[in-house]
Formats: sequence, structure tokens, C-alpha cells
Amino acid sequence: MILVTGGAGFIGANFVLDWLAHHAEPVVNLDKLTYAGNVHNLDSLRGDARHVFVQGDIGDTALVERLLAEHHPRAIVNFAAESHVDRSIHGPGEFIQTNVVGTFRLLEAARHYWQALGATEKEAFRFLHVSTDEVYGTLAPAAPAFTESHGYEPNSPYSASKAASDHLVRAWHHTYGLPVLTTNCSNNYGPLHFPEKLIPLMIVNALAGKGLPVYGDGMQVRDWLYVKDHCSAIRRVLQAGRVGETYNVGGWNEKPNIEIVQTICALLDELRPRADGQRYAQQITYVTDRPGHDRRYAIDARKIERELGWKPAETFETGIRKTVQWYLDNPAWVEQVQTGAYREWVSQQYEAA
Ligand code: NAD
Ligand code: TYD
Repeated sequence: MILVTGGAGFIGANFVLDWLAHHAEPVVNLDKLTYAGNVHNLDSLRGDARHVFVQGDIGDTALVERLLAEHHPRAIVNFAAESHVDRSIHGPGEFIQTNVVGTFRLLEAARHYWQALGATEKEAFRFLHVSTDEVYGTLAPAAPAFTESHGYEPNSPYSASKAASDHLVRAWHHTYGLPVLTTNCSNNYGPLHFPEKLIPLMIVNALAGKGLPVYGDGMQVRDWLYVKDHCSAIRRVLQAGRVGETYNVGGWNEKPNIEIVQTICALLDELRPRADGQRYAQQITYVTDRPGHDRRYAIDARKIERELGWKPAETFETGIRKTVQWYLDNPAWVEQVQTGAYREWVSQQYEAA
């Protein structure tokens, strides 16, 4: 079996659902259930004995040690993190606590467990750390996309905390021999995405008749990957990745934010036209830019394509259509994640200025 951390969040839940759709192998899912974690993301697994959910913190060493001893996983896949750049600007403390200290404690528990394994199991064990392209910093408009050898130049508290965790993972391999793998992926989108991030926020706000807040000039570029393609990349790296290596994951889909928002508006015009006959794009409003906003991210995915034969299944056009349709089909999920804490965040971020 495998131990997944952060498996009630956006990517982690998609990964667990996909894993159990592809494999018979069980999953122990350790998640703290912060504001971003949602057990209902895993509702379709109720009654499935292959999924064991445990609410807890990756930094709780006694708990992690107990889970490792009880379930004896052959791999750990670490998604658990604080993940939202804007929140990291308002309050970086939790980012240091989970992304740096939490990863450190998880690595230590994994190391002690791995060191005590028999030779065959020790050889097969993997610690896969899920990270981001944001650790590389920002790119000039014509600069080549990030390769795995690009220097680390994180600019936000979020990306700095992820960079620190990547360095710890690297050091635990070089110093202790822990068999690690690291993936650095571009921006994900798809089902179960918490509506504080750009794509789900725009869909949810558009349908609610609210403003669509574009930061600054809207010309910041992100490289978008459908979440299921990220999941297939992680499965492939876990299966065949070379120990100690890092793999950049992306789908060659660079787009400026304003184009993303316009695409969402056009899809909604088609799939759920406004009752008043107007266009959703009328709801776009330009708002104050994010401090220290990275201008451009872009992933060079040739290493994972060449070495592991991985390719995304979706284009941006097919993926964004599926995503908008998913939000239209799941109003109960959307309503249920918009709790008091969510409304508090929206008012702090978008209404306070
Ligand atoms: P998310 O915020 O949706 O989910 C994070 C999950 O981790 C939540 O379920 C939360 O409850 C859990 N968690 C937080 N702190 C924890 C702790 N101390 N112990 C146990 N669980 C804890 O994030 P996401 O978008 O699903 O991202 C998952 C991972 O992928 C993160 O490591 C993130 O850095 C990385 N990543 C995200 C993207 C993206 O576009 N979202 C892109 C590349 C990499
Ligand atoms: P986000 O989804 O927060 O991901 P990240 O900052 O990790 O890339 O934001 C994606 C881009 O969209 C980023 O350039 C910031 C921008 N953005 C807006 O313009 N308005 C918004 O309300 C949000 C949440 C993001």
C-alpha cells in the first residue's frame, strides 16, 4: 500500500481517486483537513476498504510513525502543504510550519522507517515529494522555459517554503540515501479545485453574478495542466522515475490570465447563458496587483517526456471545457465549500481595500 498525505485537497483527492481507479493497491490518506481539505472530495470511496482516511498532521511524528508501523507502505506521496500564494502573503507562518517543518518531520519519520526495512523492501521504497514550478521564480517574456537545472529563485512566502522543502528532500537523499523523487509541476486546474484559485474563483463568481477580479494588467503568464494529467505524471514517476531525480511536469500551455478569464466567460456564455442576455465578460474588473507578483512561469517538460514517456491527455481547450462543465454539474459541492471561513477570506482579499 501507499501513504498519501494531503489527499483531501485538490490534487491529492484527484490523485487518490485516480489511483484507486487504476490500481488494486490500497491508500492510507493522512490529511489535517485545513480549510483546503474536504472529506467530501472522497465521498465516492465510502465503503471502499482500499481507502483508509486519517485526520492528522504530517508534523505529528508519533502519528506518522504509528501509521508507517501499522500499514507498512512501500511509498509515501507527499501532497500536504499550504498552497495559496495570496494567503502566504497575508500570513506566512502556517506555510513555514507545514511546508518546511512538516516536510522535515515527515522525512525524518520516513527515514527511520526506511532504515529499518529489510533489503528488498528498502530497495523498492520511494518518497515522492510533490512540488511546484514556482520555486524557480519568474521568467522574462522571451526566456526559455524552466528546466530541472534552472536555479531556485522563489519570490513569495509560498514558493520560498516549497523551495525549502525541496532542498530538505534533496538533502535527505544525498546525506542519508533516502530514495526520493521530486516533481515540480505547473499550475493545475480541474474538478475539486478550491475556489480561492484563479480558475474556480472566476467560474464561481461569474455564476454568482459577482465581479471577476483580475490582478494588475492581467498579462501575467501561467502554464496550465489539467489535474488528471498531473496525477498520471506522478504515477509514472513513482513507477519508473530515477531515484534522487527531479521531474518538471507541464503541458506546454502558457496563457496570460486575462485570456483564461475570457475563455471561461465564453464557455459560460455557451453552456449557461446569463438570464439577462448579457455576456459574462462584462463582469471582469481589474483590481490592485498582488505584491511581488511573478510575471511568467513556463515548464520545459522534455525530461519526463523523454525518460518516462509521459504525455498529457488533455489540451487546454478540452480540459477547461471539462472543468467548467464540472462546476456547472456540481453546485452542491460549490455551495458546501463556501463556508464562513471562505467568505471571510474573500472579504479580506477582495473587499477590504
Ligand atoms: P490544496 O491546498 O488544495 O490541498 C492541500 C491539502 O493538504 C489539504 O487537504 C490540507 O488539508 C492538507 N494539509 C495542509 N497542511 C497539512 C498538514 N500539516 N498535514 C497534513 N495535511 C495537511 O493544495 P493542492 O493544490 O492540492 O496542492 C497539493 C500539492 O501540490 C502542494 O504540495 C502544492 O504545493 C503542489 N502543487 C500545486 C499546484 C497547483 O496548481 N495547485 C501546482 C504544482 C504543485
Ligand atoms: P493562483 O490560482 O492563485 O495561482 P498562482 O498564484 O499559484 O499561480 O493565480 C493564478 C494567476 O491568476 C496569478 O497570476 C494570480 C492571478 N489571479 C488573479 O488575477 N485574480 C485572482 O482573483 C486570483 C486568485 C489570481
